[in-house]
Amino acid sequence: MPDKPDLDILLANPRGFCAGVDRAIEIVEKALHKYGAPVYVRHEIVHNKFVVDRLRDMGAVFVDELDAVPDGVPVIFSAHGVPKSVPENAEKRALHYLDATCPLVSKVHREAERHHNEGKHILLIGHAGHPEVVGTMGQLPEGSMTLIETEDDARKVAVGDPENIAFVTQTTLSLDDTAKMIAILQERFPAISVPKKEDICYATTNRQHAVKMIAERADAILVLGAPNSSNSNRLVEVARREGCAVSVLVERARDIDWSKLENIKTLGITAGASAPEVLVEEVIEACRERFNVTVETITLTDENVTFKLPRELAS
Ligand code: F3S
Repeated sequence: MPDKPDLDILLANPRGFCAGVDRAIEIVEKALHKYGAPVYVRHEIVHNKFVVDRLRDMGAVFVDELDAVPDGVPVIFSAHGVPKSVPENAEKRALHYLDATCPLVSKVHREAERHHNEGKHILLIGHAGHPEVVGTMGQLPEGSMTLIETEDDARKVAVGDPENIAFVTQTTLSLDDTAKMIAILQERFPAISVPKKEDICYATTNRQHAVKMIAERADAILVLGAPNSSNSNRLVEVARREGCAVSVLVERARDIDWSKLENIKTLGITAGASAPEVLVEEVIEACRERFNVTVETITLTDENVTFKLPRELAS
């Protein structure tokens, strides 16, 4: 049997689960433990099939809308946040609901509300249709926010009173793209109110900076994450822009197209904020079957953020 080729793996740190995802998963697990199955969850609790399948096996039932939740069982809202109409409807039906919205998404909701109460029109930088954007837009009456998806949108958006506008952003965007859109808005509307603290969250920021560090040295990058995970897709884009042309998103080791890695000497690996570490380990194992692997962790920073659970599950 011929010798296996050498492969140096560079593992980005931080990668994978953020504090908001940890908290959301723990809310489902603890609710199942406390109330017993089934516990209903509106939307994927986080964008990861592996996580969702595991919780489903434990007794969670995932549904698209509250209509599908029977009376008398607890329902959990996903980490991405929900429009205000969702808890309102749950209350009308006297459903027992738990909100797993990430506190950093809730922070953006409150910020948008504050601007609205001050009479400002809001420009929301984000991706149309993403559940977080649907949730943020749904905090305020229709027409209170305009979505900005591209630099072109930022250049063309028309506002009633340029002295009375603010912007907020989705938490999982590309830092570089968002900075360009913000620069355009600030040039066009110098009086625009800015977030008190960056809306793009610490986890998105750290993962993008960390993938840049490995992209400098890697011949190829694998990003573990789901196709509908915003922050995972952004990691692929960031790595490509950093010059690592072979940067691909994979859900599991079985999805890897090994032909793309044939002449690769250095492989960077990272994971989106909703991808569990076990999937990274699975990929490293799959690499070991084909290569003589060495693993080096490249650390940007160590994260120590945690969020409190809702009081009813805290003990
Ligand atoms: Fe929250 Fe950021 Fe994670 S907004 S869910 S900490 S990716």
